[in-house]
Amino acid sequence: MTLNMDTVRVALGERSYEVRIGAGLLTEAGRHIAPMLPRPRVRIVTESTVAALHLKTLQDALATEGIASEALILPPGESTKAWPEFTRTVEWLLAEKVERRDLVIALGGGVIGDLVGFAAAVLRRGVGFIQIPTSLLAQVDSSVGGKTGINAPQGKNLIGAFHQPKLVLCDIDVLGTLTPRDFLAGYGEVVKYGLLGDAQFFEWLEENGPALPSGDGAARQTAVRRAVQMKAEIVARDETEQGDRALLNLGHTFCHALESATGYSSRLLHGEGVAIGCALAFELSSRLGLCSQEAPSRVRAHLHAMGMKTDLADIDSDLPSAEGLLDLMAQDKKVIDGRLRFILAHDIGKAFVTSDVPRETVLKLLDEALATH
Ligand code: GLY
Repeated sequence: MTLNMDTVRVALGERSYEVRIGAGLLTEAGRHIAPMLPRPRVRIVTESTVAALHLKTLQDALATEGIASEALILPPGESTKAWPEFTRTVEWLLAEKVERRDLVIALGGGVIGDLVGFAAAVLRRGVGFIQIPTSLLAQVDSSVGGKTGINAPQGKNLIGAFHQPKLVLCDIDVLGTLTPRDFLAGYGEVVKYGLLGDAQFFEWLEENGPALPSGDGAARQTAVRRAVQMKAEIVARDETEQGDRALLNLGHTFCHALESATGYSSRLLHGEGVAIGCALAFELSSRLGLCSQEAPSRVRAHLHAMGMKTDLADIDSDLPSAEGLLDLMAQDKKVIDGRLRFILAHDIGKAFVTSDVPRETVLKLLDEALATH
């Protein structure tokens, strides 16, 4: 087994599972998975970009342990996460005679993990699945915690279910195949964890973050481990987002409006929107007198140091007016009784959920941010 592998347990009673994090895990996936199988066969769902890079490695690793595998290769991209490819996946798994005790493997980024997890949730009223996340974003966020689903014409992630995986394998080496832009977008979700609940982790990122894009494996593993630990703790406290889990949405209310305004296109990747959203959430907190003025400056300074998108001016696209952005925010899933919910902060590492935000303050903030655009 991989030396220096980290294991984080997601403690959810009989639905508990491990997230294993280390370099080279894909090449030994068979050894991790074999003990979990009632019979030596698995079905893998992936997408073509990931398949070209990693599918053979995974299938060879399974074969070494005598595990037979077949793979369904879907098209890459967000448009895969919708009914047509979902139907195709479920029908393929049925045609492959996947039984209730078999395990399905999701090999890919967030799109594949969310879609395959949802397919596993509904297939025969629930089969087990394993996440092998290949993007930084999927390793630190979407593969852990059991949120699964697809997009509807009415909005993102509106159709889905909570269905926890049986195991998550985060191979740090596969992060080396990401484009610099995809890596940095995933980093938006990493920095979110420091900002929402761990000032020391944020300090560590200020110091070590710049080494991450250039490929420092040990630092990458530390960052993924700490992010996953924080997510696991929050999910164990609040699996279905009745309370604390909403903290994971720091930056997301702004982000969803910006993603919607840019058509969920490559003009703004999700993690880029999260980073800009975190900067805006801290700015809003400071204007409401909830945190010091230094806090938003520090957040922005770190994002700048990482070469990340930080301000609305960094979005290469026309944006709606402040009123228009506020309307888009109001379509978010997090609206309750028509009131927007924000994740704000008393300081770096001290986030909280509130619906008590004056509309005028948000409008003024957005107006000023748009003026620089
Ligand atoms: N990505 C937010 C959550 O899992 O709750």
